[in-house]
Amino acid sequence: MSTPAWLSHFGFREPPFSKEIPDADLWLPPSKATLVSDLVDALEERASVLLTGDPGVGKTCVLRALKKRLPNAGFRLTYCHNATLGRRDFYRQLCLALGLTPSATAAALFYAISSHVQDLGKDQVHPVFLLDEAHLLHLDTLDHLHILLNYNWDSRALLSLLLVGLPELQDRLALRRNRSLYSRLHHRFTVGPLTIADTIAYVELRLKQAGGTLDLVAPEALARLHESTSGVLREIDRIAGAALRDAARKKRRAIDCDAIDRALQSDPAHAAA
Ligand SMILES: Nc1ncnc2c1ncn2[C@@H]1O[C@H](COP(=O)(O)OP(=O)(O)OP(=O)(O)O)[C@@H](O)[C@H]1O
Ligand SMILES: [Mg+2]
Repeated sequence: MSTPAWLSHFGFREPPFSKEIPDADLWLPPSKATLVSDLVDALEERASVLLTGDPGVGKTCVLRALKKRLPNAGFRLTYCHNATLGRRDFYRQLCLALGLTPSATAAALFYAISSHVQDLGKDQVHPVFLLDEAHLLHLDTLDHLHILLNYNWDSRALLSLLLVGLPELQDRLALRRNRSLYSRLHHRFTVGPLTIADTIAYVELRLKQAGGTLDLVAPEALARLHESTSGVLREIDRIAGAALRDAARKKRRAIDCDAIDRALQSDPAHAAA
């Protein structure tokens, strides 16, 4: 594949605001590093966790940073992101992710998973099921999850669940019907939007990783980018990327406020606002 002209224009090695960031290069300002440490502490306590935040604020990237931070020996992380399944298919999917052969009946699936969890416990390995997009979990799956946490008459913490999703997940869990599961999620965290200082630090890092510098974005343009995206990382990626392409087409060496505004105007989500 040939290098797009706008990348060559700025001398980038790769698109600076792509989602393809190696785990080792994830941006971890103090706020995110603290969250990752809190998650590590919770899992070392073998507790279960709730993590919520709006789309694009960086929840899944926090999970990737967590995966990198947790010692390999002692933890077995299993990541599930297709939450839109009924209970039986959900457990079937979990079996496959755990390397188990899925059985036909719901009872046998549940038995296989809980036996696997107990076997890992005997080997001093703590399993963690990371359920991303958990706001989409079916009611019958949500109803049942706390039962998966019950070992030896609910006296052993052999498994941690880490439920990750949009803020409505918190609302669903707070419903009376889901209180058995909610009360077992001992640690509850939220990921919020960036501060302006964080937006600047993020843009600087992404530009640097691609071979550029922060000089490519005028200070007023950074402020405009932050304000118009409300500090949401995926929005920053999209608008900053579009503004860079716009500036390159106009043979400009840097992004100014006009380039951000043009990127916003050509984006239906922002143009309508
Ligand atoms: N720590 C980070 N380091 C570098 N880039 C990040 C980081 N966090 C988020 N991003 C950027 O923001 C984008 C969105 O982040 P992410 O996918 O983690 O959001 P999310 O909260 O999981 O969104 P959704 O609720 O839609 O799944 C990423 O693709 C990446 O480009
Ligand atoms: Mg995500």
